[in-house]
Amino acid sequence: MRHIMVMNAKGGCGKSTLATNIASYFANQGAGVVLADYDRQRSSLDWLERRPDKQPKIFGVAGFEDGLRRAPRSADFVIIDAPARSHGKELSDLVRHAETIVVPVLPSTIDIQATETFLEELKAVGKVMRKEVKIGTIANRVRDNTLIFDDLDEYLLKTRTPYIAALRDAQNYVRAYTRGLGIFELPAYLAWPDWEEWEPLTAWLRTKRSQP
Ligand SMILES: Nc1ncnc2c1ncn2[C@@H]1O[C@H](COP(=O)(O)OP(=O)(O)OP(=O)(O)O)[C@@H](O)[C@H]1O
Ligand SMILES: [Mg+2]
Repeated sequence: MRHIMVMNAKGGCGKSTLATNIASYFANQGAGVVLADYDRQRSSLDWLERRPDKQPKIFGVAGFEDGLRRAPRSADFVIIDAPARSHGKELSDLVRHAETIVVPVLPSTIDIQATETFLEELKAVGKVMRKEVKIGTIANRVRDNTLIFDDLDEYLLKTRTPYIAALRDAQNYVRAYTRGLGIFELPAYLAWPDWEEWEPLTAWLRTKRSQP
């Protein structure tokens, strides 16, 4: 069973958006998927409640209540939506659950600064120092040809953490969330540019490079 956690101490950078989309991606590949929401805001569980019955099943777990205890042992993937503002012991306790951590970052100076601090803190966690977890960053809500995206791109390229993909700012994400869907479940004519942008992320998640 693989555990993929979406995490950044910074709020609003797209953790729940990425967690729900990663979960629906693997569910559509025929995998058994658990979506574990560790955030009391319950965004991922709310999304799951909106999910139409006819879509591939995803099993929801309220991680903030009783951890992964209720997760079926037979699942192939556990996708974990981590809460914002996790630091210190809470952060290291969360990291204990994951072999792969995806860190979304917005193109904004505040978010770049906050992520720099977060990545430092993350790299000081024992499990990360022992290289028992692989971390990748994602530029999220990107608008091409903006100076701030150039800054974010440059920052993510120069950190020693692998920079996996850049995802555009698109109404498709908002639309999909409202309907309990992932962007892979939207019609091709709407979502093909997003599918293309997700390719490097799904490819990374499928290979050994994202596993310790
Ligand atoms: N690529 C995107 N394009 C457009 N809107 C996006 C994108 N990613 C996220 N959003 C929107 O940005 C807002 C914040 O995203 P989300 O809730 O996923 O972030 P979060 O990191 O989980 O926030 P929190 O820290 O509050 O849990 C939401 O309104 C979401 O719909
Ligand atoms: Mg969230």
